[in-house]
Amino acid sequence: MSRVLCRLDDIPDGEGRGFEPDDGGDGILVVRRGDGAYGYVNSCPHAASPLDWVENQFMSLDKSHILCATHGAEFRVEDGYCVLGPCRGKSLASVAVSVRDGEVILD
Ligand code: FES
Repeated sequence: MSRVLCRLDDIPDGEGRGFEPDDGGDGILVVRRGDGAYGYVNSCPHAASPLDWVENQFMSLDKSHILCATHGAEFRVEDGYCVLGPCRGKSLASVAVSVRDGEVILD
């Protein structure tokens, strides 16, 4: 069943936002790039910690990559692939999200 997470405009372009699950499992994060959104489980493939040390701080300084604040791994926004850090070569688990009528939908 799909669920509305927020309005796309609630996420500043180039930033991410975290969401807690309904079922008590891992949270998810959604990163906005223009009119698009990318969703991932908020759990680092290195040590399974949440990526944001500070709530909703998911991006590297230059906002080019998703950053794990625990040990500094960086992931591509487009596919969650780790390009730098201790879990290089692994990937974040993707979560299907889409943007419809200006709302971010968890599919
Ligand atoms: S837990 Fe993410 S880099 Fe170590």
